[in-house]
Amino acid sequence: MRPPERRIVFHRPWVGVEEEARCTGALRALRLVGNGPEGKRFQERLRALLGGWHVFFTPSCTAAFEMALMGLDLPPGAEVVCPAFTYPSMTNAIVNAGLTLRMIDVDPGTFMIDPTLLPAACNARTRAVVVVHYAGMGARMDEVNAFARVRGLVVIEDAAQGIGAAYRGRPLGTLGDLGCISFHATKNLTTGEGGALCVPIEHLARRFEILHEKGTDRAAFLRGEVDKYTWVDRGGSFVQSDLLAALGLAQMDRLGEINRRRQGVARRYLDSLRDLEAPGAFALPRVPEGTTEPNWHIFALRVDTARRDRFVKALKAEGIDASTHYEPLHLSPFARSRLGTGPGLLPVTEEICGTLVRLPIWPQMTDEDALDVVRAVRKVHVGLA
Ligand SMILES: Cc1ncc(COP(=O)(O)O)c(C=O)c1O
Repeated sequence: MRPPERRIVFHRPWVGVEEEARCTGALRALRLVGNGPEGKRFQERLRALLGGWHVFFTPSCTAAFEMALMGLDLPPGAEVVCPAFTYPSMTNAIVNAGLTLRMIDVDPGTFMIDPTLLPAACNARTRAVVVVHYAGMGARMDEVNAFARVRGLVVIEDAAQGIGAAYRGRPLGTLGDLGCISFHATKNLTTGEGGALCVPIEHLARRFEILHEKGTDRAAFLRGEVDKYTWVDRGGSFVQSDLLAALGLAQMDRLGEINRRRQGVARRYLDSLRDLEAPGAFALPRVPEGTTEPNWHIFALRVDTARRDRFVKALKAEGIDASTHYEPLHLSPFARSRLGTGPGLLPVTEEICGTLVRLPIWPQMTDEDALDVVRAVRKVHVGLA
């Protein structure tokens, strides 16, 4: 049993003197509102990282979803397909936009959208498909995009967990039509709370910069294109403060090292636990085909359903803050009462949610920390066999 001060927490953001200096600088210069010098610089850095896509820094990934749906102007009642193995951010945005949510099952190997299920999930009212990239790995985008192109569907990527990760060499969040990223404190790059909407095309970006700024042409005003700004379209309060953009700039300088260190922890886990693998009882995560740069946002292994909750509890008792993950969204109280969903509807999602165990993974974990986690996992695995 580890003493409380040596407990291995589930996650700890890596924030140091560089972040302090950037934030203090922004604070002293009174750069508090958004889309000022820090905001512009952060969005430009993101844009460079994301292959030249236009980037809007938002209060959260959830806000980026809301902005994306607002900009798409889908007709009321249009259907949007979204995996049920996810966080209720996108599903909320869909419901709030007056659209019809159609939940879909996932691929048992990757925990991400199974493109072969799309034909049955789509109908004449379907207008968009949401792809959730899980754990800093890429979903099967080639197949999703090919299907969407034939059917005229918009592909929205939930790349909340995907910063710095790539699929076939292209950054997650820039593979479909619109991409959304999170900078929540749990994410690889954090601004505490925060997110980004990624937009590929200039004319769409012009529309989104108005939505971003509460329906005004403030962005054009800041560029000196108009001498005052006013209400020109729908919009929302989607701008994030320059103070947090300053934090993001310092984090951006660290991102490469953050992701390298996370990859190192993942490698240690994979190398040291490989021999425990047994079909149906213990499975390590795999980097799916096509993922060229996993950022290891999550390290999720699977154990059999009968042991899963006891497994997590026993790891906690060993001083290791392991965790389960999503509850199936189609079994949530809201979905059951408002959408009429229930058990058995999406069996792969139910199976994954009942078997998943996330191990601590964060950039400042030492190899000794990782080995302590390994020892605890081995002990618990044998103890609960
Ligand atoms: C897949 C996924 N999408 C969206 C979100 C929400 O991100 P945010 O808190 O920035 O709105 C999360 C949060 O963890 C997530 O895991």
